[in-house]
Amino acid sequence: MSTAAPVSLVTGGNRGIGRETARRLAGLGHTVLLSARRLEDAERAAAEPAPGVSGTLVPCRLDVTDADSVRALARRVEEEFGRLDVLVNNAAVNYDTARRAVSVDLDEVRRTLETNLFGAWRTTQEFLPLLRRSSHARVVNVSSESGSLADMSGGTPAYGVSKAALNALTRKLADELRAERILVNAVCPGWIATDMGGPGGAPVDQGATGIVRAATLPDSGPTGGFFRDGEPLPW
Ligand SMILES: NC(=O)c1ccc[n+]([C@@H]2O[C@H](COP(=O)([O-])OP(=O)(O)OC[C@H]3O[C@@H](n4cnc5c(N)ncnc54)[C@H](OP(=O)(O)O)[C@@H]3O)[C@@H](O)[C@H]2O)c1
Repeated sequence: MSTAAPVSLVTGGNRGIGRETARRLAGLGHTVLLSARRLEDAERAAAEPAPGVSGTLVPCRLDVTDADSVRALARRVEEEFGRLDVLVNNAAVNYDTARRAVSVDLDEVRRTLETNLFGAWRTTQEFLPLLRRSSHARVVNVSSESGSLADMSGGTPAYGVSKAALNALTRKLADELRAERILVNAVCPGWIATDMGGPGGAPVDQGATGIVRAATLPDSGPTGGFFRDGEPLPW
């Protein structure tokens, strides 16, 4: 299936902010690969009725910690679409509010980095040849103010360090890809009521807004930035 519509991939698209982002991009006419660790979860999320979704949601399997899974999806996207226009690295785990840096089990920290940092890194590397075939490639790393070094305090050690590292990766990739006009930005969605965010946060549509904005930036848009609600956040 080759398409003139932008082709977008959202990791962790089966629930929460990822699902809302996939729907919103589809609503803008993108062909969206709604990916999930389990194919049936992606199929369920893509089949759920969502008002305003006019584009195509293509359910697919992607575990960002599994190199074979990432490679297999990249091959499929190459065969079916020949390029990728937007990559949203949204998948993440372990908002570890009960832990402290002084005592957290480092295996837990490693597992968290495997998804939140290396998952995004691996997926970006694997899809880069396809992003390079796009005229308007965008990479959005879904980060968190918890990863901001400017006011970093104790607690939430694995998650906070993983997002700080993701922010650093954002700067590295943005700089290395600037000359190729691939825009790479980090976005904090704010506190959003999802399984991860828990009750009390803002609704998911609010969380997706800044991500969709970064995914659909004009060619003159920023790269190497860290944003929430379209406004720069301190690193
Ligand atoms: N909610 C907030 O308040 C908040 C605040 C700041 C930043 N964020 C960030 O926003 C993003 C989305 O968070 P959320 O609140 O929507 O979280 P969520 O509801 O917990 O959803 C997380 C998603 O990531 C997926 N995932 C986890 N490990 C994966 C893997 N190895 N491969 C592929 N997918 C995987 C999950 O899939 P399964 O269903 O298979 O587990 C799920 O779809 C995350 O990057 C998070 O750090 C959230």
